Amino acid sequence: MNSPPLTIHNPLIPQMTPKTTSLIELPADLDGTRLPQHVAVIMDGNGRWAKQRGFPRIMGHRRGADALRDLLRCCKDWGISALTVYAFSTENWGRSIEEVDFLMTLFENLFQAELKEMIAEEVKLAVVGNLDNVPSSLYSAIDRARTATQSNHGVRFTVAINYGGRQEIVRACQTIANQVQQGLIKSTDIDESMLSQHLHTADLPDPDLLIRTSGEMRISNFLLWQLAYAEFYVTDTLWPDFDRRAFHQALLNYQQRHRRFGKV
Ligand code: FPP
Repeated sequence: MNSPPLTIHNPLIPQMTPKTTSLIELPADLDGTRLPQHVAVIMDGNGRWAKQRGFPRIMGHRRGADALRDLLRCCKDWGISALTVYAFSTENWGRSIEEVDFLMTLFENLFQAELKEMIAEEVKLAVVGNLDNVPSSLYSAIDRARTATQSNHGVRFTVAINYGGRQEIVRACQTIANQVQQGLIKSTDIDESMLSQHLHTADLPDPDLLIRTSGEMRISNFLLWQLAYAEFYVTDTLWPDFDRRAFHQALLNYQQRHRRFGKV
């Protein structure tokens, strides 16, 4: 970033508390009125980051958690109102027991250790995915953090854990089919808006921008329905190295796109 940061009031943030302040530092070459409202991220490359340095894979996850903390703060500073990250997919159970255990413990520790900060920063936490089979201590930490932050009005921070996009759509269909079976609705009542309302993300706008790190060009079962019109940005940067500068690049690239939503 060569140019000095410019202080801009971002109209996308509805109400900021005095603590978070409505004046934010945004790089001068970004247009504060055309920022994505909701950014989704597939945080990939932790293992490769660690391998390149001769560290165990878990070190990559630790550093990945640091990168996520910084990104969340950056979203607040730059006026991006929602951040959704893919922390653990339904397929990730296939990793070694040691790595899965480490990740579950890391998530639990982070939800506990960062709770004070999330409250102070007005972050509103949500966790999406099937939490039936996560360790009970992690479930409790999530539950405490969700409850403690639910009336906050800052960044909407959503973490996908044991999440699969197809599974989410199937569950929504089952719920709707049940309602049809009970005669509560007719099959002709089913539309896109009804299906959206039965997804974990019902109260969030669809992501405007999906960032995937480490160069992979796949959606990997993440927010399959919600990403229908999102702009994709793929960078070779490995997740632990994805810093403010890298995010700035992603936003600049996003602002060069002409979003058409299927129209000409
Ligand atoms: C993908 O890299 C990363 C993960 C499966 C875990 C991501 C988790 C964090 C960054 C911690 C986040 C914490 C909270 C509380 C949300 P990979 O292991 O697939 O990397 P590779 O493709 O190089 O092997």
